[in-house]
Parts: sequence; structure tokens; C-alpha cells
Amino acid sequence: MSSGTFISFEGIDGAGKSTHIARVAELFRQAGRAVVLTREPGGTSLSEKLRELVLHEPMDALTEALVMFAARREHLVQIIEPALARSDVVLCDRFTDATFAYQGGGRGFNWQVLGQLERMVQGLPDGSLRQPDLTVWFDLDPLIAAERLASARVPDKFESQPADFFAAVRAGYARRQAEMPSRFARIDAAQSIDAVSAEVSRVVSDWLQGVAA
Ligand code: TMP
Repeated sequence: MSSGTFISFEGIDGAGKSTHIARVAELFRQAGRAVVLTREPGGTSLSEKLRELVLHEPMDALTEALVMFAARREHLVQIIEPALARSDVVLCDRFTDATFAYQGGGRGFNWQVLGQLERMVQGLPDGSLRQPDLTVWFDLDPLIAAERLASARVPDKFESQPADFFAAVRAGYARRQAEMPSRFARIDAAQSIDAVSAEVSRVVSDWLQGVAA
């Protein structure tokens, strides 16, 4: 059994989640916890190589889903499970909900097949599934996200998708939240950075108090 804390951060490209993850890390460090900051796809040397491929090479939808889960498996085995076993806090910039949202919602890939892959990759010896304890979802209108991205770096394969792709990704996140409401906290990412930051801190603190109670 692990006694660590596993929090994932999700949202469409341009929702601005990365800015806030570092602040959450600081909250935990101030509370004396060891923090592992990581991301998907990525987090290990092999998974980062898979990230390069999947973000830049065109590929079939099943191949894309398999690469995401292959990268995740490696990341879980090498980084996430050992950190949780040490009772660390794992803050992960995207996890499995992104596959349901992007490959399932955005690409229209079969939701049930993604569920089978999820069980295969995230299954634990006791038969349960490894899932984040808390998922902070930065929810944003795709049109606002597109405006924010317009001034950003050269877009990758996903970032260059049209707004209707991101509307479908957003619907994918909403579907995941509806399926697993207890671990999701939705944040309105259209607010100012300071307002979002305050809400994220409040959500994480409230959640920690709930766990401790
Ligand atoms: P990032 O830019 O937030 O690091 O995410 C990388 C991109 O990969 C982002 O556009 C979302 C996409 N992605 C998927 O399509 N499926 C997944 O399972 C994950 C983890 C990310």
C-alpha cells in the first residue's frame, strides 16, 4: 500500500495549468512534504522520447493511444509508484484523463478500448486501479485558449488543432468528471491568474483537510 499523494492537473492546451503547478508544489514543500514534479507524456527518459514522437509525428489513432499508455506505464513503474511508496507528493502535469479527453474526445477513439488499456496499464496487484487522488481540471472555453496560444511557442501536433477539436477534448474531460466526480475539482480557468491561483490553493487545501479528517 502506498501512502503518498497523487495529484494530476488537466485541461485543454492554453488553459494555463503549468503556471499553477509550481505554486502547489511550494504549498506542499512548506508543509514539509517531498514533492515529485512530473508530466505526461514524459517523466522518464524513455517516456520523454515517446513524447517527442507522439507530439510531432503523424500516426494512426490506435497507435497514438498505445504510445500514450506505453509512456504512462513506464512513468508509473519508474517514477510514480516508487514516489508514492516513499509517501512523497506526486504532482503530474496531465495523466490518464488526458488520453480520454484527447484521444477519446478529440480524436473520437473508442472510450471502452481506452478503459481496457487503462485497466491494463494502471492495474495494481490488489486488483484496484491507480488513479490520481485529486485531479485539478482547468476548464476553459476553447476560443479563449486559442487566443492565449496564438502568442505562444511554435505549436505541436495537438496545439495546432482547430477550436472544434478542443471543444471535443473539453467534452471528454467533462465526461470523465461525470464518471468519477469525487476526485475531480473543476476550476474556471477564464479568471485572472491570481484568481485561478487562489482557487487552486483553496481546492488543494480543502482536499487535504478532507483527507486528514
Ligand atoms: P503538454 O503540452 O500539456 O505537456 O501536453 C502535451 C500534449 O499531449 C497536449 O497537447 C495534450 C497531449 N496529450 C494527449 O493527447 N494524450 C495524453 O494522454 C497526454 C498525457 C497528453
